[in-house]
Amino acid sequence: MKKIPLIDLAGQYRSIKEEIDTAVQNVFDSGHFVLGPNVAALEKEIAAYTGTEYAVGVASGTDALILGLKALGIGAGDEVIVPAYTFFASVGSVMQVGATPVFAEVRPDTYCFDVKSVAAKITPRTKAIMPVHLYGHPTDMDALLDLAKQHNLYVIEDNAQGIGAEYKGRKTGSLGDIGCLSFFPSKNLGGFGDGGMITTNNSELADKVRMLRTHGWRKKYDPEFLGYNSRLDELQAAILRVKLRHIDRWNERRRELAAEYGRQLAGLNVGLPYADSDVNHVYHLYIIRVSNRSEVEQQFKQEGIDTAVYYPIPPHLTKPCQAMGYAEGSFPISEQASKETLAIPIFPEMTDEQVQRVVSVLKKCATPASVFAAKE
Ligand SMILES: Cc1ncc(COP(=O)(O)O)c(C=O)c1O
Repeated sequence: MKKIPLIDLAGQYRSIKEEIDTAVQNVFDSGHFVLGPNVAALEKEIAAYTGTEYAVGVASGTDALILGLKALGIGAGDEVIVPAYTFFASVGSVMQVGATPVFAEVRPDTYCFDVKSVAAKITPRTKAIMPVHLYGHPTDMDALLDLAKQHNLYVIEDNAQGIGAEYKGRKTGSLGDIGCLSFFPSKNLGGFGDGGMITTNNSELADKVRMLRTHGWRKKYDPEFLGYNSRLDELQAAILRVKLRHIDRWNERRRELAAEYGRQLAGLNVGLPYADSDVNHVYHLYIIRVSNRSEVEQQFKQEGIDTAVYYPIPPHLTKPCQAMGYAEGSFPISEQASKETLAIPIFPEMTDEQVQRVVSVLKKCATPASVFAAKE
């Protein structure tokens, strides 16, 4: 039986091979490899796509977060509120700039910030809030932006998983002070290597990130402050420009597949992804919840279908956060999500027949899901 991958990057390349090969060959022929015309063009195109004035390409999504925090002047003594259930980079970036991540609980249905929990974590040291549009579902931004405004806090959107997602008709990454994209290959818009970008409407912030990515200089060899080497390369930018032309069609196919999964799995005792009525979810991952996760994983393995666990350890319980003294039980909803969630295949090239095969495995082994899986 043919394997079903979690995501089929080689298949995606084959589907647009000619366009990609031409773009890559043009870069080879140009002899210009780092921060050239393709990066500049991609920055314009991503800004237009996201609905922001500016976009600045950097070396990864993690660097976008770090340089974004730095550009806002966040560092030692400052607190940044982050979700207790996210990829570690959201938290690690805060620690890299010397600030303290302060965790807030997520909603059990969308896995994005529970804004009430965020409000309870604000202290006089809080400088910023970092909503993560996890799995491609936008955070409840109106409530969060209100809170930020009341307390004079910056909002840095971790939009690594959210390209194309919309909150009340506006693209994620255009709602806070800074949005941070990742172009890691498996992302909805992924390069053929690492890459990232910040999006913003603030010209000073864009300028600061531009300087931070090249040693803190505006004029070559004349650093004005301590910066980094965090540049996007021409090959990635050329590939991403090709892929950006397809992103809406790909995201639409992800939504179609999610709707089909929803229909087919509706009668089973499996927790399914939930989308608020005022958002456009982009299903970066299709996350189900089962209380017998290892059994379900095993069954999928036997049938040649890939699955993955995002994220087995919530960040507050990871080793780099040990000194902060969080114990198991500090964030029950996040901890339970870490134990019960499972990503099953979803990618734009997935066929209806592949969906049927995934569904048939779940029909064999699904047992009652956690109470947290239900919509409140
Ligand atoms: C939520 C989230 N934040 C940050 C990142 C970091 O992005 P990158 O891997 O490009 O550094 C990722 C992706 O890996 C992510 O999923």
